[in-house]
Amino acid sequence: MKSHVRLGLIGFGTVGSGVAKILQRHADEMNRRCGARLQLAVVCDRSLGSRSGAGLPAGARVTRDWKEVVNDPTLDIVIELIGGYEPARTIVEAALSAGKHVVTANKAILSKHWGELFTLANRHRHLLYFEASVGGGIPVIQALNEGLAANRIERVSGILNGTTNYILTRMEEQGEDFAGALKDAQKAGFAEADPTFDVEGIDAAHKIAILASIATGGWVHVQDVYREGISHIEPVDLLMGRERLDSTIKLLGIASWIKSGLEIRVHPALVSRHHPFATVRNEYNAVCVEGDSAGDVILYGKGAGQLPAASAVVSDIIFLARQVVIGTAGEIPYVTYDHSRSPRIVPMEESWYRYYLRLTTTDRPGVLARITGVLARCGVSIASVYQDVKEQHRMSGGVSIVLITHRAREESVQKARHLIDGLTVSRKKMALIRILD
Ligand code: HSE
Repeated sequence: MKSHVRLGLIGFGTVGSGVAKILQRHADEMNRRCGARLQLAVVCDRSLGSRSGAGLPAGARVTRDWKEVVNDPTLDIVIELIGGYEPARTIVEAALSAGKHVVTANKAILSKHWGELFTLANRHRHLLYFEASVGGGIPVIQALNEGLAANRIERVSGILNGTTNYILTRMEEQGEDFAGALKDAQKAGFAEADPTFDVEGIDAAHKIAILASIATGGWVHVQDVYREGISHIEPVDLLMGRERLDSTIKLLGIASWIKSGLEIRVHPALVSRHHPFATVRNEYNAVCVEGDSAGDVILYGKGAGQLPAASAVVSDIIFLARQVVIGTAGEIPYVTYDHSRSPRIVPMEESWYRYYLRLTTTDRPGVLARITGVLARCGVSIASVYQDVKEQHRMSGGVSIVLITHRAREESVQKARHLIDGLTVSRKKMALIRILD
C-alpha cells in the first residue's frame, strides 16, 4: 500500500487554486478518506513565477512547462484544469500515455474526443475522471455512471449552464435586457473566458453530449447536438411567458432516447412554473435523469463557481487516489466505451413541440391574416394570438405579435418562419421558443 499519492496540477486559475484551497483546508479529512497522504507536488501554470504563487501548498514545485508534469515519474495523478481544446487534449493524452491517471474538468475535449480519450485510457489501463465537467459541484457524473447503473436511461434533461441561468434570472426578476444581464454574470465570475460558449449554448452542448455518452456507453459527439443560445431572448418573452403561459424560460440540454434514436439538443424552452426546473435560479444547475427502474431523479446545486467545481475535482482525486493506494487503479475502466453503441441521432426537423413565436411587424389591417395564412399553408395550427404586448415593449415602427401554436413538426414551423421572415410586413426576424410539455 502506498503511503503518499502525488499529484501534479496543470492550470492554476480559478478552479485550480480552489482545488489547492480545499486540499489544504481539509488535509487530514482528505487523507483519511483516501487512506494515504495526498501531496500536491507540482503545479504548472504559464502565468506563475518560479516561486510559489499565493495559495500554493508549501513544498509544491512550480513550473511553466506542462511536459515536466506529465513526464515526472514520481507523480500518480495529473489534474488538467486549463480548459479549451489545445494544448489540453495533448496534455491529457500525453499524461495517460506516460502512465498517469488523469482528472479533468474539460468538457470541450471530452465531448469532442470522447472515443479517442477513453480508448487511450482503457488501452493504457489508466483512469480518466471528469466529475467537474458537468454541473459544477453536483455529482451528476457519478450518479449517472454508478448510482443509476442499474437503469436503462430514457431521458436526461437539465439546466446545465450557470451563466445563462443567471442571465435569464436577472432578465426575469430585474427586467434587465440580455446585454446588461450578461455583464452582471461576467462580474459575478461565472461566464467562460469567451461568453459565446455560455450564451450560444456551446457549453451546455458539451455537457449534454457527455451525459448522453455515459448513458449510452457509446459516443455522442458534440457536433450532433442541435443547439440554440439565448441571445435572441428579450424581456418581453419572459413577461409573456409569465403572464400568458404561467411559465419561465430556461436554457435546457435534453437527451431523449426514443424508438427512432436519440434526440439531443440545447435550446431555450418555456417551462411551466410547476416544473422543478422553474425554481432553479441564478448560477444553479439542475439535472433530471429518468431511468426505467429508478424513475425520475433530480440533482440540484451550484453549476458554476470556484469551490463547487473544485469540490468535484477533489472528489475525483480522492476516489482515484483510493484505488492508487491499494494498487487497483485502472483495472476496471471508469466509463465503458464501445463505439458500436453510439446511437442514431434523430434530426431536429423530425421533432414535435408547441411553439411560442414572437413577430415584429407593421401595425395595419391584414398583417395577421397574411401571417396566419402562411402558418396554415405549412400545416401549423395556432392555439392563441396576443397583440396586447405592453406599451413599453412595442418596437419603434413595429408591433410585437405573439402566437402560440398547437403541437407542430419542427420542419413545418421552420418553413413557416422562413416564409414569414421574408414578408414585407416583417420588421425583424421571428423569435421562436419551444414549449416544454
Ligand atoms: N461557464 C459554466 C457555466 C461553468 O456557466 O455553467 C463551467 O462549466
